[in-house]
Amino acid sequence: MTMKIKFTFVLPLLAAAGLAGCGDGNGGGPLTELSAAAALGAKIFADPSLSASGRLSCTTCHDPGRAHASNAAVIAGGPNLTTPGFRNPPSLRYIDQTPAFAITDDGALGGFDRDGRVASLAEQARQPLLAAHEMANISAVNFANRLQQAAYAAEFRQVFGNTVFDDPQTALDRATFALQRYQLEDDEFHPYDSKYDAFLQGRAQLSAQELRGLQAFNDPQKGNCTACHPGNRGAGGSLPLFTDFHYDNLGVPRNDAIPATADPAYYDLGLCGPDREDLKDRLELCGQFKTPTLRNIALTAPYFHNGRFATLREAVAFYVQRDTSPQFWYPLADDGSVRKFNDVPGPTATGFDYRTIVNIEEVPYDRRLGEQPRLTESEIDDVVAFLNTLNDGYQP
Ligand code: HEC
Ligand code: HEC
Repeated sequence: MTMKIKFTFVLPLLAAAGLAGCGDGNGGGPLTELSAAAALGAKIFADPSLSASGRLSCTTCHDPGRAHASNAAVIAGGPNLTTPGFRNPPSLRYIDQTPAFAITDDGALGGFDRDGRVASLAEQARQPLLAAHEMANISAVNFANRLQQAAYAAEFRQVFGNTVFDDPQTALDRATFALQRYQLEDDEFHPYDSKYDAFLQGRAQLSAQELRGLQAFNDPQKGNCTACHPGNRGAGGSLPLFTDFHYDNLGVPRNDAIPATADPAYYDLGLCGPDREDLKDRLELCGQFKTPTLRNIALTAPYFHNGRFATLREAVAFYVQRDTSPQFWYPLADDGSVRKFNDVPGPTATGFDYRTIVNIEEVPYDRRLGEQPRLTESEIDDVVAFLNTLNDGYQP
């Protein structure tokens, strides 16, 4: 291949490297043939030799067998796998549909990571490759040296140019571009083949319990889940994503299994930091995290940004019993009172109490102490049964 041919091939791909909108999304059509860049991305994604430890790859935290999520609340990285992480690795399924980050009339929307701080999948991929608590390459040079040793280094040169390793920054850019193409193109990330998809397409039936769960999920007076995790077909008949990509503050309890929480002054406040820095002063956004898809949710325990809940049933019960029985979910203070919303700061030096901005208005978490929860115990079971129909790879 000459340089000329190579660039006519690569440049249009680079131009198309923006957000989302890869193809028509859902519909279960024929398997897409991967571009050369995406095929390389697949190899990079699964290659632990690209990490300082030699033992960590994207698949460690985004396991294809777990819907590209992980079953650990947080995973330690770094050269000896002893540098702890801060957040629960999210599923990467359906990530191609993520809209660009924006602050809209309905609050924050979209972007990558749980706080939306990253604008593209390529930019996102740089973080784990370089982060001290993840794959821990100390520089582009360090990363390019590792990549050059990979079994597929020749293929990398073929696709991105013989001189691609001359400039380590370019090698890193092309690698993150390849990772982006892989996540956008490979149908493994967006198969739309759950039992519920088959149900919507008239090819499967839900059981009586699953149907009751669906009803409670949609009912604005019961689960109201669909208000943020839309489960109906979209405009033009597109299959649902079970997220509106908006942000909310659910007041999820603190998870002591995250080592950083040993410091009582440490709080992960999502949109307003510490990882995200541009919205620090927007106090009303503090504690808000991106609404994740519920597709494959039965496969991706533990739940929420900090992995606080080990089972799906607990996660759903928390929603409806958070305010009616807070003592189930939060620790008690020395005086016996419940330390509700214990993972956001109480009154600070400036007098601002972050507990006052946890969402207590929206169904199903709009109840008060002593009121009936929005879902009964058996309705919780029904919703969980319904959520179990959202796993990819349904075989009738
Ligand atoms: C040590 C575990 C770990 C490794 C290794 C890792 N990730 Fe992640 N990943 C995470 C965590 C944790 C988050 C959430 C980060 C946040 O919200 O700040 C995340 C977030 C993401 C997101 C954003 C998801 C969303 O909902 O917006 C993408 C995309 C992603 N990772 C891709 C990758 C790729 C590609 C690699 C390999 C180059 C990789 N990850 C390696 C733990 C990991
Ligand atoms: C007002 C918006 C809103 C409503 C209503 C809502 N959710 Fe959520 N959901 C969110 C947000 C935001 C998160 C992420 C919160 C976090 O990580 O701190 C989330 C997270 C979850 C998670 C954990 C996902 C993961 O990958 O860890 C589950 C499970 C879930 N929701 C199920 C439900 C169910 C079931 C209902 C109805 C009973 C519901 N949600 C209603 C906004 C909402």
